[in-house]
Amino acid sequence: MDLIPAPSSIEGPYRCGFVMDSRTSLTAGPGTERTERWLRSVLGATFGLPLPPGPPATSNRLALRIDDSLRPEAYRLTVTSTVGAQIVGGDAAGVFWGAQTLRQLLGAEAFRQASVATAAAALPDQVIEDSPRFPWRGLMLDVSRHFMPKADVLRYLDLLAAHKLNVFHFHLTDDQGWRLEIKRYPRLTEVGAWRARTKYGHRASELWDERPHGGYYTQDDIREIVAYAAERHITVVPEIDIPGHSQAAIAAYPELGNTDVIDTTSLSVWDNWGVSPNVLAPTDNTLRFYEGVFEEILGLFPSTFVHVGGDECPKDQWKASPAARARIDELGLKDEDELQSWFIRHFATWLAERGRRLIGWDEILQGGNRQGVRAPGGETTQLGLAPGAAVSSWRGYAGGIAAAQAGHDVVMCPEQHVYLDHRQHGGPDEPMPIGYVRTLEDVYRFEPVPPALSAEAAAHILGTQANVWTEVMQDRSRVDYQVFPRLAAFAEVAWSALPAPAERDFADFERRMTAHYGRLDALGVDYRPPGGPLPWQKRPGVIGRPIEGAPPNV
Ligand code: ACM
Repeated sequence: MDLIPAPSSIEGPYRCGFVMDSRTSLTAGPGTERTERWLRSVLGATFGLPLPPGPPATSNRLALRIDDSLRPEAYRLTVTSTVGAQIVGGDAAGVFWGAQTLRQLLGAEAFRQASVATAAAALPDQVIEDSPRFPWRGLMLDVSRHFMPKADVLRYLDLLAAHKLNVFHFHLTDDQGWRLEIKRYPRLTEVGAWRARTKYGHRASELWDERPHGGYYTQDDIREIVAYAAERHITVVPEIDIPGHSQAAIAAYPELGNTDVIDTTSLSVWDNWGVSPNVLAPTDNTLRFYEGVFEEILGLFPSTFVHVGGDECPKDQWKASPAARARIDELGLKDEDELQSWFIRHFATWLAERGRRLIGWDEILQGGNRQGVRAPGGETTQLGLAPGAAVSSWRGYAGGIAAAQAGHDVVMCPEQHVYLDHRQHGGPDEPMPIGYVRTLEDVYRFEPVPPALSAEAAAHILGTQANVWTEVMQDRSRVDYQVFPRLAAFAEVAWSALPAPAERDFADFERRMTAHYGRLDALGVDYRPPGGPLPWQKRPGVIGRPIEGAPPNV
């Protein structure tokens, strides 16, 4: 039935065994209520099925049950004319992933939001057994560079669920905008959520969109997003990026910046792309301020992991800052890299004391983990990754390998493979082309676990995620174009037990994609068609990056 991601095993399909109709009942065992609600809403809308609660003794029924002898997130879906359809999950999430498979079996029509009354809800007899390869199957979305309205975020959660992805890494803050209401610091959104204008295209482009741009999620919006995700067994991992990528916060509260180096009161939310030199000052004031931010974050996001960014923090201002130098001396540190290590370690400890775990980009390994560092006052300065801290490995595999070998958990998301902002074809028609060419097939052949890793270190690879940075994605349609169809290939890498990259059957995946494009069409996803962009998907003349012949930092 052309399932994506491919399940572990299918017995059948045989002849059509079970057609759901208005008398089909839905029997939901304890713990399966979320899937029960979801199935009633989806199948009610598309096939007009009321799915009343029914007695277990009928054959015209859909039954949901948890059986903890199956692995977490595993499921078995059985369809026969004698029992109807039955989804047994190792836990509540497994039942939900089984329901996602059931929806794919019902055809593209099951992905519409109202009935077009052309097909019956027919299921062939079969048994599907399935379980995920990784417990962390994620998508990171940057809503700072371009704000994505709440309704579109909820839609993305549905798109993740349809692909059995279970982590939504929400990149909420950056130089170009702060996107989350923090009650104790209202200027973060009053000032930090808005910029005067926006570069149209990448850095070298001379085009500007002169309209102010911005937006943010209220705390109730966030609660709604988190609850909507939880209904779909998706964890929302919030990211507050520190100590770099913080110009929007400094524009709102200038005392957070290096006030002894520049006049931070002159800063505004950044209107250009790249890595801002304006980073947080490593002062007590900054630590207390962000503890306040993270206190509100913990109240909003139940996720065990909290992402603190840590990437791309230029050290020029710290090098020029007497206050940063004094802090380095006071802590007995060698240099600014160790200062960053100490800064991140502070929040790792702070989160651990509250039962959470820090995750950060692989730069949190910078500055090393020198032990036994003595401050002149006699106290020990803690450096390096705290126990329990995890790494998102984006600059390649190396950071993730080092972290895993040191016993830390890792999410593999190397930019060379799974940055979906990067162009998906080498031709001239790709809109605002960025970075590496990574085709659908390239993503399909991405391997999250480096083969050289020992079994013990490989067990620390929690999984993988695709990352979407939105500098040149002004709206949801542009995001769709970059994300799809590649997210379908990525989902199969994250979920299915695929062979080594060279042995993967891409031709079979492409064949299954024919059906999947029908599902994406029904869902209204503006994917990149296999033949290239449609006329309105092109952006002729708008410059991306890198520019041929230009220095690499342009
Ligand atoms: C990153 O791409 N700067 C994590």
